[in-house]
Amino acid sequence: MKILAIETSCDETAIALIEASGSLCNPKFKILENLVASQIKIHRPFGGVVPGLAKREHVKNLPILLSRLNPELHTLNPDIIAVTVGPGLEPCLWTGINFAKEKYEEIKKLGNLEIKLVGASHLNGHLYSDILNLKSKISFPAIALIVSGGHTILLLMKDLAHYKKLGETRDDAVGECFDKVARMLSLPYPGGPEIEKIAKKGNPEAINFPRPMLSQKNYDFSFSGLKTSVLYYLRDHKNAKIENVAAGFERAAFDVLIGKTLRAAKEFGAKSILVSGGVAANKTLRAEFKKAIKKSKNNFLFFIPDLKFCGDNAAMIAASSYIDYSRKKKYKLEANGNLTI
Ligand code: KG4
Ligand code: ZN
Repeated sequence: MKILAIETSCDETAIALIEASGSLCNPKFKILENLVASQIKIHRPFGGVVPGLAKREHVKNLPILLSRLNPELHTLNPDIIAVTVGPGLEPCLWTGINFAKEKYEEIKKLGNLEIKLVGASHLNGHLYSDILNLKSKISFPAIALIVSGGHTILLLMKDLAHYKKLGETRDDAVGECFDKVARMLSLPYPGGPEIEKIAKKGNPEAINFPRPMLSQKNYDFSFSGLKTSVLYYLRDHKNAKIENVAAGFERAAFDVLIGKTLRAAKEFGAKSILVSGGVAANKTLRAEFKKAIKKSKNNFLFFIPDLKFCGDNAAMIAASSYIDYSRKKKYKLEANGNLTI
């Protein structure tokens, strides 16, 4: 089936068209188009996402992206239109939902009476971004770590359709912590890629920042204490080398993410580890995860999306809506800023 997906939960306007086939045991995706209009330049002067500006940009960009996909609406002929309903910024989510409703009605009027309009979860989108371009089959059970600007979640997956939450952050998400630490270091928004860049020039062992909750037996996370430690370090060391601060911070955050994920994988007898979300674009995290898995000698299979599917995109929303369709899971077509996984 052909799926047209729309994503407007935060500061990226995204539309994708994919072809999905296969069962829940072996879904297959062909990405026909995956368009993203980034708003980074617009929000950068404000040091973060301004919801009103984000909404205005989505309203402007959605028709532009759709016409770039194909100016002739009837030739798109999707079986499903999927739109993100949450979590995210509600005015932005409504923009996507209303646009999707309009297109659904237009396509129906053009004669496609079978077309369906469905809501999708942004978090499931990240989770299933891992199956967009599978090079080998995922073996279950699996442990999935979602690391984005709004979430840090650890899941135990029995199969693609069944999972349970093991833990999540009790305060800041890890991506949010990258953004806040970047601001302390006078680096522009979004902070993740900036920290990654300068951390490469620093020594990750020069400053020993705390690893919050790493030794606790639960699978929750906490990053606000780490952020405060960086703040105090900068207050007390006026001549601190920011490359070392960035590298030390990154190492501390990644030690916690990797340490807890691997411990969960061992405890639950996982065969695979899946990582996704904006922070998964960090090449140091990708490399450290692979190194730690190799060192653990547990032969976990490791899945992490191509860079273009780590940040927000609509191809992942299409993939998750195909899984939802196959497992008969439905979301209300209403914006829900706090939708949980
Ligand atoms: O998944 P995403 O695009 O949006 C949300 O759903 O939140 O994630 C955005 C987050 C931001 O906090 C950004 O700083 C972080 O992902 N990020 C990174 C990197 N690229 C993006 N964090 C660390 N290293 C990166 N290379
Ligand atoms: Zn996201």
